[in-house]
Amino acid sequence: MTTNDAPRIPLRAIQWKEYKLHLIDQRQLPTREEWLILDDATSVANAISDMAVRGAPAIGIAAAYGLVLGVKEKGLEALDEVADELAASRPTAVNLQWALQRMRRAAGKEGASLESLEAEAKRIHAEDIEQNRTMAALGAAYLLPGSRILTHCNTGALATAGIGTALGVIRQANIEGKLAKVMFTETRPWMQGARLTAWELAHDGIRATLLTEGAVAGELAHEGLDWLIVGADRIAANGDTANKVGTFALAIMARQFGAKVMVVAPSGTVDMSLKSGADIPIEYRDGIELLKAAGMEKAPDGITVANPAFDITPAQWIDVIVTEQGTVEKPGTASMRKLLG
Ligand code: MRU
Repeated sequence: MTTNDAPRIPLRAIQWKEYKLHLIDQRQLPTREEWLILDDATSVANAISDMAVRGAPAIGIAAAYGLVLGVKEKGLEALDEVADELAASRPTAVNLQWALQRMRRAAGKEGASLESLEAEAKRIHAEDIEQNRTMAALGAAYLLPGSRILTHCNTGALATAGIGTALGVIRQANIEGKLAKVMFTETRPWMQGARLTAWELAHDGIRATLLTEGAVAGELAHEGLDWLIVGADRIAANGDTANKVGTFALAIMARQFGAKVMVVAPSGTVDMSLKSGADIPIEYRDGIELLKAAGMEKAPDGITVANPAFDITPAQWIDVIVTEQGTVEKPGTASMRKLLG
């Protein structure tokens, strides 16, 4: 079901009302602002795999509410079945597994009920808003007045419940008057930058310049850069970071031009069970997404398409990881463990 009567300000792309999950359909933005109103777990799993809702924290929150809907429909005894269906919707962002794990723990408590599960999902949702604020302040503290910033993908209010992760830092830096220039990539093939980040920046009145990924090196050569600021979908115990495909190349370019690299993500994005980025599962999506972005319905015969949605930036290319629990400079296994256990 869709409706167009959602509030515009503040931007809250995930809303929970009377056992219905309202999601802004991110595939339609910025052309149309349509809302999906979901009341069953399978629809939530589909909304995640089909990218109606995307961004690591946002899909974790959506999955938590999806589990509530599944339990409402099928009872607490179906919890594992519903959780497995939701967990399979996208593989890379660990926030999805993390949120479902929290829900499973809540369901394992004595006297657990539909209401107590709903309360846990609401807590996950509310905590994300708060964590965004904390990370924005911690990240912006690294920026000097006159900073030139580059960001990638969409890490804002659409990808989280609050002001965002990397985009939250940029919003905070804007409030503090520290921004000289903001650049952002279009982020092929889904155009999360050109469609979604552009939409959010316009919403906030932050002036910024859209670049194709291919234009970045040339632009930085004469514009200069102080910080590349990105989000994350999963951070391994040694600080290696999975984020939107293209992040690794941007980190290398940022360093080439003397800039620093900041990764901003809540602790729910950190997966201390994985030793390094090599263990992070990378989602490969249907090649048709690339062809469509290139204006084609079909590749010429014999062409193979690789469409990884994410890549791994090794920790050596990252200067600081900002979480709501604090920051890790020059991340590595020891420094990550010190902050995140
Ligand atoms: O495929 P997407 O759009 O879900 O990828 C999103 C990203 O890579 C974001 O940078 C990441 O999830 C952090 S969002 C706060």
